[in-house]
Amino acid sequence: MKKILITGGAGYIGSHTCLLLLEKGIDIVVIDSLVNSSQNSIKRISNLLSNHKKKGKLKFELGDIRDNKKLNQIFNFEYNSGKPIDGVIHFAGLKSVVESLSLPLSYWDVNVNGTINVIRSMQQFGCKNIVFSSSATLYGIVESKKIKETDLINPTNPYGNTKYAIEKLLNDLYNSDKKNWKIACLRYFNPIGAHTTGELGEAPQLNCNNIFPKVLNVASGEMNHLEVLGKDWPTKDGTGVRDYIHVLDLAEGHIAAIDYLQKNKPQFICLNLGTGKGTSVLDLIETFKKVNNIDIPFIFKSRRSGDVPYMVADNSLALSKLDWYPFRNIKDMCIDGWKWKKNNPNGYESIY
Ligand code: UD1
Repeated sequence: MKKILITGGAGYIGSHTCLLLLEKGIDIVVIDSLVNSSQNSIKRISNLLSNHKKKGKLKFELGDIRDNKKLNQIFNFEYNSGKPIDGVIHFAGLKSVVESLSLPLSYWDVNVNGTINVIRSMQQFGCKNIVFSSSATLYGIVESKKIKETDLINPTNPYGNTKYAIEKLLNDLYNSDKKNWKIACLRYFNPIGAHTTGELGEAPQLNCNNIFPKVLNVASGEMNHLEVLGKDWPTKDGTGVRDYIHVLDLAEGHIAAIDYLQKNKPQFICLNLGTGKGTSVLDLIETFKKVNNIDIPFIFKSRRSGDVPYMVADNSLALSKLDWYPFRNIKDMCIDGWKWKKNNPNGYESIY
């Protein structure tokens, strides 16, 4: 694809993906409302590319994906330029499980209505290639086995419900025009880490409940200790096991998915993007301490409601379909994540 619209391109996974696409010489247009991201990530992307000879063109549009007029303007402008948008990577959306429990309407509105708007504009301008940012949160599995794409889907919160609804919507769309739609839903496991330069990373939302941003806050001294939520799970050391994936491997997964759609016949496909390797909370703490030489004090607390003991991807479908392999390990994730936090204690608002 020659020109790709990236919704939510200023965010954590979006910004890393934008950089890689531009490094490959692909032109991109980013639309982002900045409700949960900073335009400084876009500035950083431009800075990182300043010494690259071959690079794509980057355009940034401030806007909400629920704004149909804005989306149509973007598609129309690029269409008239003679180089239309021929693919979309759709990241934009709200993403906090906890917040979604108290704000279900916002989650359904932004995530589902927003996606409908994106697709309407795509249809209008004849663009039928889309990679959608889905999540492993939609699986309902609690057994200690790796999760396959064909396993039971049973989301347990509004955020997960919206991801599942969008996957169903995209499947219906494909069925309505099987000769033309090329659709990939990428089900992410637990993305952590940052760009190796320490210039791009996660600037987490207020009250973020995920473990890695908390580990970084303990390392930087913003928090005294980490709370390890449960020590009696049926896992090797009693703490929760997850499939952490380096954000750069995840970004590369998007590039591979775009290439795959381009080279293959129209289809609807869902793929797990994870490493296939499980890491417990204690493993993560130990690795972080060792590679960064920083203590991470912790205390055990009771289990968090809604948690599962084990969530690891069977990534064999993605490995067989895509020209992709997540080769960065948990040490890389801890080193790069800490580099980002050290250099940017206040995220993108840090002075640099
Ligand atoms: C959570 C979300 C999931 C979402 C994912 C995004 C819930 C129930 N699930 O998943 O829908 O897709 O984030 O990355 O919120 N832990 C601690 N101490 C903490 C925080 C977490 O010990 O302060 C443990 C958890 O019990 C778990 C592991 O760390 O075993 C990972 O937790 P987290 O980063 O929140 O991710 P998920 O629970 O996988």
